[in-house]
Amino acid sequence: MIRVGILGCGFIGTQICQAIDRGDVSAEIYAVYDVSYNKAQELISSLEIQTPVYCSPSQMFENTDLIIECASPDAARLYISEALKNGCDILVMSAGAFQDPEFYNEVYEIALNGGKRIYIPSGAIAGTDSLKSGMTSNIDSVVIETRKPVSGLADSPYVIKNKISLENLKEPLTLFEGKASDAVVNFPRNVNVCATISLCGIGFEKTEVRIIADPTIQKNIHKLKVKGDFGEMFMEIKNNPAPTNPKTSYIAALSAIAKLKEITNPFQIG
Ligand SMILES: NC(=O)c1ccc[n+]([C@@H]2O[C@H](COP(=O)([O-])OP(=O)(O)OC[C@H]3O[C@@H](n4cnc5c(N)ncnc54)[C@H](O)[C@@H]3O)[C@@H](O)[C@H]2O)c1
Repeated sequence: MIRVGILGCGFIGTQICQAIDRGDVSAEIYAVYDVSYNKAQELISSLEIQTPVYCSPSQMFENTDLIIECASPDAARLYISEALKNGCDILVMSAGAFQDPEFYNEVYEIALNGGKRIYIPSGAIAGTDSLKSGMTSNIDSVVIETRKPVSGLADSPYVIKNKISLENLKEPLTLFEGKASDAVVNFPRNVNVCATISLCGIGFEKTEVRIIADPTIQKNIHKLKVKGDFGEMFMEIKNNPAPTNPKTSYIAALSAIAKLKEITNPFQIG
């Protein structure tokens, strides 16, 4: 049975631990860590069977097979190399961290040389399967449109820096149109989907992104348009926001649980 360590005890970390605790995933939670001790304790006390310890990331890396990062892009940048060097595989939810090519190349080399894996679940987006297949031939364009309720975008660096007032918005407002590399920098907590699509598709510089604040919707809506030698793909997903974090879609946590099930299952489908 694999031993896992959880970095980040918010919505996604809690959902993953509870799925393991219910026996949905065959794994043992060795430890959890959060900058907020209270969040970690809250998570630990929500579990019935598993008894993780609260310890430092370094101690966690020495005693686990798989680290699950569900904290922040900064945490991902801080801990991924150390976890890999300690012999851990790592599952990363803060996919935006890989927008920095230097960081991407560094962890790629460490993982390759150490025979370790970096898993990035599909998160809040769909269509990664066909995009990956299409990438084995030529892809001409990838366009992703992210439409969120105002509460999911209001505190993003882009909105704050440009003093955009979303409070009394009555109609959808396009906040950003440009390449994925800029979207990830300006909306770090919101556009992991753009990062995931860039990573499995044509990259951060060529993937086109549109971000819309929409006061008329309750769900996080992502549309993906891909054209290539395989043909064309149009995908739309309407995600329920997580009850405790409107920036996160519920399905993002489910995608991590699904990836864990896949890792621990001899069948690899899709
Ligand atoms: N890949 C995707 O499609 C996708 C979708 C949703 C969320 N995410 C990302 O997943 C991550 C977790 O999302 P969430 O909804 O659970 O967030 P959350 O805010 O509910 O929880 C994050 C937790 O991590 C902790 N944390 C922050 N920085 C930390 C650090 N340096 N070390 C340890 N703990 C730290 C916070 O205190 C918090 O408890 C975020 O980075 C989010 O952007 C990815």
